Amino acid sequence: MKVLILTGSPHLQGTTALLADEVSVGAQEAGNEVVRFDSAQLDIHPCIGCFHCRKNDGRCVQDDDMIQIYPHLLTADVIVLVTPVYYFGMTAQLKRVVDRFFSVNPILRETPKQLSLVAACGDKDEWATDALVTHFRTICRYMNWREGGMVLARGAYTRKDVEDTDYPMMARSLGAGSGTRPKGENNF
Ligand SMILES: Cc1cc2nc3c(=O)[nH]c(=O)nc-3n(C[C@H](O)[C@H](O)[C@H](O)COP(=O)(O)O)c2cc1C
Repeated sequence: MKVLILTGSPHLQGTTALLADEVSVGAQEAGNEVVRFDSAQLDIHPCIGCFHCRKNDGRCVQDDDMIQIYPHLLTADVIVLVTPVYYFGMTAQLKRVVDRFFSVNPILRETPKQLSLVAACGDKDEWATDALVTHFRTICRYMNWREGGMVLARGAYTRKDVEDTDYPMMARSLGAGSGTRPKGENNF
């Protein structure tokens, strides 16, 4: 299996960086090929909705680092979105990448894939991740992709907050179980 990890945090050593590392280790230990892009470190522009891609065989008008991601996006069996919660959704950095799926949307919707979600947020309330989970599930439904596992690390403002919890182990297990059918929230 090929696992594509797309992260959205600007913090290289932050909460979700730790969880992304664990997903990666778990997936590799289970024999998967892992490719990871830290979107905040890349030059990726937002979709400008020009529809150039629709008239040009899926080629985006923009010349930026998405060119590195597209080949892996098309060939990945499993995609794992890893993001801190920013105002109840994914970060703008990661959303830029997701919006740029648009240029290859027709192909993506016809290609079986699994999408998983790993997120961290400061709030402890269960509803703090509701909007993000709904978004994630809606993307799966629209793309015709299988819903993968979710690890939702609530009560995690900083990396230190998750270091001594079960969340890193859960992220590792999510990576190891890439491609297997999940049971629900925070399972793997
Ligand atoms: C701009 C911004 C918006 C945030 N919005 C939320 C939020 O809506 N809910 C929440 O619980 N935490 C929120 N947080 C806290 C982060 O989700 C939390 O600190 C997370 O652990 C950061 O992950 P990182 O270190 O991987 O970047 C926000 C943080 C920032 C900087």
